[in-house]
Amino acid sequence: MARALWALIPLSLASAALAILPERLANSQSLPSVPNKFIIEVDELARFNTKRSFTRALDAAYSSIRERDVAIEVNKEFDAAGIFVGASITVADVTTIQNIQGIKSIRPVILVDSPKPAFQKAVTSRDDPAIPAYARSTHVMTGVDKVHAEGLSGNGIRIGVIDTGIDYLHPALGGGFGPGKKVAGGYDFVGDDYTGNNQPVPDDDPLDCQGHGTHVAGIVGANPDNEFDILGVAPNATLYAYRVFGCVGQVQDDILVEAFLLAHAEGNDIITASVGGAAGWTGTTGAVVASRIARAGKIVTIGAGNDGADGAWYTSSPATGIDAIAVASVENTLIPLQTAIVHGAEHDPIVYYSYFPLEVPQELPIYLLSNSTIANDACDPLPASVPDLSTYLVIIRRGTCPFVQKLTNAAAKGAKYALIYDNGSGFNAIEVGTFAGRASLIRAEDGLWLLEQWVAGVPITVSFPQTGGSVDFPLARGGLMSEFSTYGPTNDFYFKPSLAAPGGNILSTVPDNGFAIMSGTSMATPFAAGAGALLLEFKGKSAAVARSARTLFQTTAKLVPVNLADSAPSQTLIHQGAGLINVYDAFHSTTLLSTGELVLNDTANFKPVHTFRVTNSGTARKDYTTSHVPAGTALTFIPGTHFIAPGPVPLSSAGATVAITPATFTLAPGGSREISVRFTAPTGLDASTFPVFSGFIQVTGTSETPVHVSYLGAVGSLENVAILDTTDEVLPFATPVLLDSNGEIQVAATNYTFSPVDYPSLLWRQLFGTPLFRVDLVDTNTTVQSTVQPRSLDNRAVGGDRHYGPVFSFPFRPGKGSGTFAQVQIVGPIIQEEFISRNHERDTNPYYVFDVLDPVFANGTAIPNGQYRLLFRVLKVTGNRNRQEDYETWLSPIVGVQVPSP
Ligand SMILES: *[C@@H]1O[C@H](CO)[C@@H](O)[C@H](O)[C@H]1NC(C)=O
Ligand SMILES: *[C@@H]1O[C@H](CO)[C@@H](O)[C@H](O)[C@H]1NC(C)=O
Ligand SMILES: *[C@@H]1O[C@H](CO)[C@@H](O)[C@H](O)[C@H]1NC(C)=O
Ligand SMILES: *[C@@H]1O[C@H](CO)[C@@H](O)[C@H](O)[C@H]1NC(C)=O
Ligand SMILES: *[C@@H]1O[C@H](CO)[C@@H](O)[C@H](O)[C@H]1NC(C)=O
Ligand SMILES: *[C@@H]1O[C@H](CO)[C@@H](O)[C@H](O)[C@H]1NC(C)=O
Ligand SMILES: *[C@@H]1O[C@H](CO)[C@@H](O)[C@H](O)[C@H]1NC(C)=O
Repeated sequence: MARALWALIPLSLASAALAILPERLANSQSLPSVPNKFIIEVDELARFNTKRSFTRALDAAYSSIRERDVAIEVNKEFDAAGIFVGASITVADVTTIQNIQGIKSIRPVILVDSPKPAFQKAVTSRDDPAIPAYARSTHVMTGVDKVHAEGLSGNGIRIGVIDTGIDYLHPALGGGFGPGKKVAGGYDFVGDDYTGNNQPVPDDDPLDCQGHGTHVAGIVGANPDNEFDILGVAPNATLYAYRVFGCVGQVQDDILVEAFLLAHAEGNDIITASVGGAAGWTGTTGAVVASRIARAGKIVTIGAGNDGADGAWYTSSPATGIDAIAVASVENTLIPLQTAIVHGAEHDPIVYYSYFPLEVPQELPIYLLSNSTIANDACDPLPASVPDLSTYLVIIRRGTCPFVQKLTNAAAKGAKYALIYDNGSGFNAIEVGTFAGRASLIRAEDGLWLLEQWVAGVPITVSFPQTGGSVDFPLARGGLMSEFSTYGPTNDFYFKPSLAAPGGNILSTVPDNGFAIMSGTSMATPFAAGAGALLLEFKGKSAAVARSARTLFQTTAKLVPVNLADSAPSQTLIHQGAGLINVYDAFHSTTLLSTGELVLNDTANFKPVHTFRVTNSGTARKDYTTSHVPAGTALTFIPGTHFIAPGPVPLSSAGATVAITPATFTLAPGGSREISVRFTAPTGLDASTFPVFSGFIQVTGTSETPVHVSYLGAVGSLENVAILDTTDEVLPFATPVLLDSNGEIQVAATNYTFSPVDYPSLLWRQLFGTPLFRVDLVDTNTTVQSTVQPRSLDNRAVGGDRHYGPVFSFPFRPGKGSGTFAQVQIVGPIIQEEFISRNHERDTNPYYVFDVLDPVFANGTAIPNGQYRLLFRVLKVTGNRNRQEDYETWLSPIVGVQVPSP
């Protein structure tokens, strides 16, 4: 069942053009790692056995490195005792420092993309006093309006915002910077010109030049009395802006780590980061640091990611941080839209998709370009029979060609104003280019009514009130999960996302006194941070309250259904986490649960029995009942394949069976008791879909809203999940393969000179993340066998615009001492890297390539001329790195190293 994914891979790969060799040197890497840059973490000073005495563990580490005659460059130091002590270093040969006692970890520096909202629509600011109050629907959805009414606003709470900076000049954000202002401090780690691939130029001024961080800041803390009457969740909190992106581009994660540590050191009570890249693993440096800061007593909220279309097992890092709150996105219920008034026949005002009135000065008669619903209305230049349109409001049907093309054709006939009616694609914001303020989208039914009147010859005119025409329009998917919101869990089965907050269609501040609607978990994350600020104000600032925040918000969250039907089941928890944050209940529930999440893990590691405590913190005696609410079981793979199912992930109603003891009980005020739960995984499901089941254990007290513990388990074992794609379903040829200097698949033994253009490249696709990837050089007569085989090999040429693999090596750790891994005879290691995410079909990352540019081992020593093979190994998800059986293995054809004598 070959899937038609050709269109989704880079053209260069789909076309069979031969490589123009020198160009392949100019390409960028496909793995996010930065060559030769690493973050080391060091142990306590006492763990180093250096000859001299030092006062800092880092100095002891440098000394130990120097004793090995290794040149390193220290890019940054991290000196946060109890959180992270280490450094970002540049080193040519990292293998030489691998076994230094006292160096706890060495991780490559990785690039993280600048945040991209899933949807964005700018709104030009105007001084229109009559633009009505925005309904603050996100506050209503989550009970924030009610806790505001109780007088909470985040007074005295500091929130560190790690993002693109903040336009603090925006009046709604305090109109200034520094002590006493809303944005009271912060730091710019990078400067405007930073791209992720050049030298950062830090300074003290974190002014935003992208807009994303300004939007985020408004969601957390905008002041009231602005033209849209938006209001932050914690408008009286103090914000600190930590800017980690230039105006475009990426950031190296050592800067992200530095920002987290500074935000922590500067005394922020909450750190929020709408930043990340698809990863799936809890072990990246950013995730580790964020998690430790949370454990130390800060509330840390991080966006779960906008990769919902890529299906399960894809949580962004650093949201993967174990103790961080990974925030998913729910669609807003209402947005403010404008209306037009119809004259000449009875009809309700027509809602059009614009936040400001169209600038139409007078009442205009309508003109329709066709008398029926045609697919390509106004896609071609209008015929001579069409009169001058300058005195009309032109009505055009959506479809076939871009909106701007339709509008341009109408404008060629003099049209100034137009309404485009929907064709069933959906009522949403549209791009009208230079026609902004003069054209907009209306709903299909309104367009069809206008068409009817036109055909019947009813003289309809339309006017556009410049004040008072705004309505709060209900969004079709309001209250449901945003489809873009990334699915968990992590590859090591941690419960991610943690919970959800409003993030779809959110109106907030943007630079230059502007406002815009954006969508993304980036928008949900500051909402959760603001909720955290209200919590700290309500309960008092303390590390204990901060540590309890995730559990409190999870246990009181609202269940998000799969659709808006009354009987709709609950959405899978790998999409919604514990549910939509409900701030009012979180503060006022008098039933406390000791944990918010239970991980049953996969079949091989199944933990069927769990306990948690229920405490009655109220003043009255309460009778309780316990119950089970299953959520949809996520079928995470396409049936019968090793491919992850794209989002929206299909669900099955077959849920777990749960025995809860006791079923009923009574607690006196202050009383508590333990609840025991035994889970039995659902049966009858297609195991090839790797079902992930989930749901809630509800505890309902006398006349109370139920609270819940969320659970997650899988039918299937991650140790059996295929890592490598050996098929040609996505790429035009089966993988893994070696590509020769012509960019063609190497079949026969081939000699390489390793001149600048003559070297082999390993190309592979990952269906799933691997904790460890490794390439060794072995003898041609090796007895080790491939465990995977490319399943078709038609030797179509590939080439051109190749992606690069990592051009550095990682410490040689596994296989030391005992274990079958160590028994595999190798000539020497070439490269190793940890925690690689999977590839996906959808955009720019469909495969990985590692170019063996130089004939050297991982330690930089030259490989002697001779005949070898490459042994490529990826570890299974829960595999033991010392067991050869736990790797997927591929042995390459014979590779001759034939470097000419100088
Ligand atoms: C927020 O701060 C303003 C200015 O200091 C103050 O007037 C207002 O009372 C505060 N709001 C709340 C709810 O505490
Ligand atoms: C639509 O119908 C009107 C009235 O019958 C007619 O005058 C006009 O030419 C028609 N327009 C088109 C595009 O056929
Ligand atoms: C509506 O227009 C879009 C864009 O051209 C097109 O993809 C879609 O098929 C159309 N839908 C209908 C129902 O005609
Ligand atoms: C699930 O089991 C695997 C294998 O034992 C383990 O590595 C992982 O930490 C477990 N996940 C959780 C959240 O406990
Ligand atoms: C590779 O080079 C070796 C040593 O020069 C030679 O014996 C062998 O035939 C060459 N192989 C190919 C495929 O050219
Ligand atoms: C493979 O060949 C090498 C010499 O090239 C030899 O040392 C080694 O013992 C051989 N191994 C096997 C398994 O035959
Ligand atoms: C580098 O690695 C190769 C292969 O493992 C080994 O033979 C060689 O001795 C190492 N060189 C140094 C200087 O450690």
